[in-house]
Amino acid sequence: MVSIARSAAALVFGALVVAAMAAAGMQTGTPTTTEGRQTMKAVRIHQFGGPEVLTYEDAPRPEPGEGEVLIRVHAAGVNPVDWKTRQHGFRRKELPAILGWDASGVIEAVGPGASKFKPGDEVYAMTDLARDGTYAEFVVTREDAVALKPRTLDHVQAAAVPLAALTAWQAMFDTAGLKEGQTVLIHGAAGGVGHLAVQLAKARGARVIGTASAGNHEFLKRLGCDEVIDYRTTRFEDAVKDADVVLDTVGGETLERSYDAVKPGGFVVSIIGQPSEEKARERGVGTARILVRPNGEQLAEIGALIDAGKVKPEVPHVFPLAEAAKAHEQSQSGHTRGKIVLKVVEE
Ligand SMILES: NC(=O)c1ccc[n+]([C@@H]2O[C@H](COP(=O)([O-])OP(=O)(O)OC[C@H]3O[C@@H](n4cnc5c(N)ncnc54)[C@H](OP(=O)(O)O)[C@@H]3O)[C@@H](O)[C@H]2O)c1
Repeated sequence: MVSIARSAAALVFGALVVAAMAAAGMQTGTPTTTEGRQTMKAVRIHQFGGPEVLTYEDAPRPEPGEGEVLIRVHAAGVNPVDWKTRQHGFRRKELPAILGWDASGVIEAVGPGASKFKPGDEVYAMTDLARDGTYAEFVVTREDAVALKPRTLDHVQAAAVPLAALTAWQAMFDTAGLKEGQTVLIHGAAGGVGHLAVQLAKARGARVIGTASAGNHEFLKRLGCDEVIDYRTTRFEDAVKDADVVLDTVGGETLERSYDAVKPGGFVVSIIGQPSEEKARERGVGTARILVRPNGEQLAEIGALIDAGKVKPEVPHVFPLAEAAKAHEQSQSGHTRGKIVLKVVEE
């Protein structure tokens, strides 16, 4: 009898607490900030610096605005721009900041005027480099940056694709105009951008020559490279004189020497170094440096190639979100094969 009375009192007390929280504008059942916003787990930085500044903590959960969607992130891809932003800010100058701009996950909610996706859709996206990113349970992005996730990939594999594949696509096809039957020389062919570039170029019908250290040559042949060059023992410009396109993902001296590997009328596109207009003019070739942009339509085309079995990301390094620092150390090695991904949801 006494214990029933105690239970009843506890229930009444619990109901009063819930009522008081509701009256204060707090949502029950979900963690909230002191301002009453829902929270989520995220990896944020409060200052620029080494991997130790990456902090796994509670952060306000974002809400989708006009034309935007809220994605529940299942996996977040890691790219070198993440640690460069961690060190110097790059496009993100305000702090605290959430890094990471690749996501695979599920649509949680859509903002006003957003009509392409509905809650429950499995999607992948590269999000805006100037905004909070994907090292988090939720991310908001414009709906036109999003595409349905390739159905043949799980979330970890899909999160490896967007930024790197869009970079390869926009550099080789949109900027350099690579076409079927042409030859492309890809520097850093075993890396995040390079290994997807090799497969996208093959799918376009191009002949592909890739540079990498010897340990990656079998991997590159498996991806479809017609020819591989060990950049440590061979000067690539001695082996290649007549490429139509060079995709440079390495920069520095590699970019400088690339003008000697391309035929007149060809194109040298870099994603990392400042091209030499003078050398390009002397050789009669085009040149440009690009910065990748989010693009849901291109991601849908890339997804179709993936589901057709023509492109597959290599993901040898997977870490839990809370271990983002280890992922950054791996990325900063400069010798990752394929991609690194952070798992946000255990599946
Ligand atoms: N502008 C943009 O929009 C944009 C977009 C994406 C990336 N990026 C930049 O582009 C660069 C590459 O990105 P990523 O994601 O591909 O990086 P990544 O995955 O870290 O690249 C690692 C690869 O680079 C290869 N490598 C290192 N030195 C090389 C050399 N001298 N010659 C040939 N290969 C070499 C390594 O192969 P070995 O182990 O065999 O040496 C490794 O496989 C980064 O600096 C990144 O910040 C720019």
